[in-house]
Amino acid sequence: MANQIPYGLFVTGTDTGVGKTQIAAALAHLLAERNLIVRPRKPVESGCRRKKGNRLVPEDARTLQVASRTDEPLAQICPYPMEPALSPERAAALSGKTLTLDDVQAACFKGVADTDFLLVEGAGGFYSPLASGALNVDLAMALSLPVLLVAADRLGTIGHTLMAVEAIRRRGLTLAGVVLNRLGPYGDPLMDNVTDLSRWLGQPVIVTDRFDASTTDPGWMMLCPALAALADRLTTG
Ligand SMILES: Nc1ncnc2c1ncn2[C@@H]1O[C@H](COP(=O)(O)OP(=O)(O)OP(=O)(O)O)[C@@H](O)[C@H]1O
Ligand SMILES: [Mg+2]
Repeated sequence: MANQIPYGLFVTGTDTGVGKTQIAAALAHLLAERNLIVRPRKPVESGCRRKKGNRLVPEDARTLQVASRTDEPLAQICPYPMEPALSPERAAALSGKTLTLDDVQAACFKGVADTDFLLVEGAGGFYSPLASGALNVDLAMALSLPVLLVAADRLGTIGHTLMAVEAIRRRGLTLAGVVLNRLGPYGDPLMDNVTDLSRWLGQPVIVTDRFDASTTDPGWMMLCPALAALADRLTTG
């Protein structure tokens, strides 16, 4: 791609399993609805299962592909699927491969035009290892993308979120927003992370509700209403 500063977002989390894929997919759907060409990337996905023909299938990338309504092949969305459910750096090393930050950066940019929206989901948390000698933060910096931070609404989240936000700011990256994802169960009803986190951050957080996995719509569809204002902001720039 010609443009050095791409248009898009790097979706990271305070941890693994906090809802990065769900949030990214909901956002992809909303952006595609607003007529943007969304280029989803989950450049490195570990913990992939082997399916037909012994192929590794990256489920996060598949979710992002569907939500983005893209006809890009999975191999372009996730060029580095890995089987061990470990950090990608370790998973690659165990398969005898060396995955460099340059490889991952190039994979994110491949097939992306200047006006496309590049939506990248990292792996694990913001400081989790991603490639050989590189953390997720290093990829966010290499891509020069604003960062959307996803956190689970549970006890301990205030500390984890503030640390991640400080890391994002110290690296000179733009914080596009903080999403407090209500994965549930909630714990003490007196807990109010929305109020406390917003106060500590000095800005509102986006709150999503727990969805019911038994419904016919995929879970990320349920998260769309909470993310609509963010999608509007991203669309209008
Ligand atoms: N708001 C929610 N309500 C109910 N379930 C949710 C919600 N958000 C996420 N989940 C579920 O929690 C699990 C983890 O979510 P998700 O896969 O999006 O996390 P992740 O941060 O992308 O994980 P990874 O680090 O493996 O990429 C999934 O099974 C997902 O369906
Ligand atoms: Mg994910």
